[in-house]
Amino acid sequence: MERIALNALAAIAARHSTRAYSSDPVSREELELIVDAARRAPSANNVQPWEFVVVTEAETRKRIAALAQYGKFIADAPACVAVFCKDVKYFLEDGAAATENLLVAAAALGVQSCWVAGDKKDYAPAVAKVLGVPEGHRLVALLALGHASRTEVPTPKRELSSVLHWERF
Ligand SMILES: Cc1cc2nc3c(=O)[nH]c(=O)nc-3n(C[C@H](O)[C@H](O)[C@H](O)COP(=O)(O)O)c2cc1C
Repeated sequence: MERIALNALAAIAARHSTRAYSSDPVSREELELIVDAARRAPSANNVQPWEFVVVTEAETRKRIAALAQYGKFIADAPACVAVFCKDVKYFLEDGAAATENLLVAAAALGVQSCWVAGDKKDYAPAVAKVLGVPEGHRLVALLALGHASRTEVPTPKRELSSVLHWERF
């Protein structure tokens, strides 16, 4: 497939959360590239505790959407990636690093996304059950992936000058 991917800085700048999706699909090749970026994330002691469950089946997405309190749009997005980690000491940091890679890789390919909370949510075990995840894994995040169905205004961000401290806070 012919593709032009954005470089990392452009992809980071382009990324923002999308919560209304069209039915335009995300190809299997794009999904593989996105997960391939996730598995390259850093992890404490290089444990790589992650597992990524890619869900494209509408019925399963609807079941996840029904569980996810603020992730109802997962039912409409053509793909959802559930990020699980083995319950190791740094599972959350490792899983968050992988999740950010997923988001940035998607943006690089022109695929929109939204991180939906997994860890600390009481629906996490139910999502794991729907997806047949073995015991001993924690849900870090659910990602909706697809294409926006409407024009979106990027989320305001704090200015560099208000967050960057040279040498001392
Ligand atoms: C840990 C975490 C949990 C989040 N959970 C949700 C969620 O459940 N539903 C949702 O719509 N957005 C969720 N978000 C997305 C944030 O609301 C969004 O990233 C934030 O408002 C900044 O907007 P941006 O992504 O467009 O930069 C979550 C983000 C993070 C990092």
